[in-house]
Amino acid sequence: MSVRRLDPNQPSDFEFTPENLAWAMEQIKKYPEGRQQAAVIPILWRAQEQHDRWLPEPAIRYVADLLEMPYIRVYEIATFYTMFNLSPVGRYHVQLCGTTPCMLRGANEIKAICEQEIGSQGHVTPEGVFSWIEVECLGACVNAPMAQINDDFYEDLTPENFKALLDGLRKGRNMKPGPQIPRQCSAPVSGPKTLLNGAQPQAGARSAERAVQESEIQNRAQPAVEAVSPVKPPEPQIGDTSKVEEARARFQKPDGQADDLTEVAGIDSKSQHLLNEIGIYRYGQIGRWSDEDRNWIETRLPRFKGKTEEWMAAAKALIETGSPGGAAPNAAGTRQGKTKDED
Ligand code: FES
Repeated sequence: MSVRRLDPNQPSDFEFTPENLAWAMEQIKKYPEGRQQAAVIPILWRAQEQHDRWLPEPAIRYVADLLEMPYIRVYEIATFYTMFNLSPVGRYHVQLCGTTPCMLRGANEIKAICEQEIGSQGHVTPEGVFSWIEVECLGACVNAPMAQINDDFYEDLTPENFKALLDGLRKGRNMKPGPQIPRQCSAPVSGPKTLLNGAQPQAGARSAERAVQESEIQNRAQPAVEAVSPVKPPEPQIGDTSKVEEARARFQKPDGQADDLTEVAGIDSKSQHLLNEIGIYRYGQIGRWSDEDRNWIETRLPRFKGKTEEWMAAAKALIETGSPGGAAPNAAGTRQGKTKDED
């Protein structure tokens, strides 16, 4: 972190509005006798919010007087934490993380976009829209690289989505915080991989993602002895009963023995469970999906996004040629140990 200095242009004075002063006095009361100075950070923060989101030197002295602290102590705090802006900032102030995990995942490319679109660090664009600084780890390394813009985190940044983000903000749009790629919170990019069992369908609408989250909470709540129980194979469930009913009406479970869908290239056992849940049990069902069917599946089940075309081709290959992933049909038209795909 570079040296942080006070802005050369300072207002002559600062004092809290009556409302902010009353709020500050309430905060101070929350601390034990003799420990009132511990309120310094929230009170400095309120001073910054009152002063157009930057902290002038008179505000530092004002807060020091309020808490009966030496000026130098409050000055040290204000200049140490990058959450305190010591110069005017833009309407959108970007704090770009440049610490190792973010740097390894492309923060330097995002930094180049900041320089190109906004200018040098600390510079405020002429119309007062943007400013940026590089900061240390903001604790969202799992979705690196990331930046905080005002009060929100924007994660999984790429030069393209970051440019689009700045462009949207410039145009006054509400831009969705969090991962800027199709990632669920901080789960792996390809979707949650663990704690997929245990989610029970309930009456009423409930998304598959929600079911996974609830399953995770339930699993955490198990007594410690559960942790050493034999691991059961995951049994992912759709979790949204209305979605399941709609799917079953569309795909209709065929009679007879089910095919082993994991022989279709790209379908793993979790995907097979989910496909079975919506009524898909046979290679032939997959091989005959219409564009509408594929669109339905990819829209309702985001974890299958971009996969159905490949599965469809693999299922057709499996039926017609016995490859990839299995032997050719025998004379009776069935595959080794499998039923003939009759549906
Ligand atoms: S390293 Fe960037 S958020 Fe932690």
